[in-house]
Amino acid sequence: MNFIQTSVHDRVAAVTVDRPDALNAMNPSVLKELTTHIQSAIDNTDVRVIVLTGRGDKAFIAGADIKEMSQMSTKEAYSFGQLGKKLADTIEQSPKPVIAAVNGFALGGGCEISLACHFRFASEKAKFAQPEVKLGIIPGWGGTQRLPRIVGKGIATELIIGGHMIDAKEAHRIGLVNRVFSSDALLEETNAFAQLIIKNGPQAIAESLRCINESSNRTLSDGLSHEVNSFAQLFSTEETKEGLTAFVEKRPAHFR
Ligand code: COA
Repeated sequence: MNFIQTSVHDRVAAVTVDRPDALNAMNPSVLKELTTHIQSAIDNTDVRVIVLTGRGDKAFIAGADIKEMSQMSTKEAYSFGQLGKKLADTIEQSPKPVIAAVNGFALGGGCEISLACHFRFASEKAKFAQPEVKLGIIPGWGGTQRLPRIVGKGIATELIIGGHMIDAKEAHRIGLVNRVFSSDALLEETNAFAQLIIKNGPQAIAESLRCINESSNRTLSDGLSHEVNSFAQLFSTEETKEGLTAFVEKRPAHFR
């Protein structure tokens, strides 16, 4: 099956969910294929930034495949949930920034996969929801855990218990998305931002992402101790020497 397309240009991997007849909804095959593509982009030394998007201008990902879920036993639902968790964890733990370019519906599991990305850019047409309770289920790929950490407990609870859809403007207002662009400009602007990131030190980026991710699992004092250790460890790398020396020598830094 070919539900996912990846292309690499200028060190940016564009990973596209390509199942437009089901609004890019994710069944077990889509989940497995997407996890493989994300992992390949992480392992590809030519790639520095990963952009995740959906095919067409209607949907980013319209959620877990409801038709397939309607036939699942508890055991099958558990395996399905584990596949989504593995995908979300792979994205979140990537040492390379993963940006969600949300071009349309990001519903249920689609919203959750965007939450696992390091940040979200959206088109004006994007729509977000955690509508699981309307189906008699709950978010199963991290929605109850990542959404409160991004928008705060009160707003996350309202969205998960209400199940209602919000537009890109509202998603931006509550801090769910970082930036909003016109549909035509979304990928261009996302790539332009990716090119800015590429100029920065890759090890420093990876270490920043790790410290930020781990902050959810640590006390503040633990996290602060961990951060100062990571800060110091980087001083034994060529990258840090190059970054600091380049500033002193009034020239751009060249990171490998
Ligand atoms: N799972 C499986 N199929 C889905 C899907 C999903 N999550 N979301 C959309 N589709 C399918 C539809 O069943 C339809 O297929 P069909 O033509 O074979 O019937 C196709 O995608 C197009 O969707 P359609 O509903 O006709 O488009 P629309 O523009 O009228 O409505 C949505 C768009 C997104 C509002 C609507 O499809 C929807 O509510 N989808 C479910 C979203 C959801 O609850 N996701 C969370 C799941 S946990």
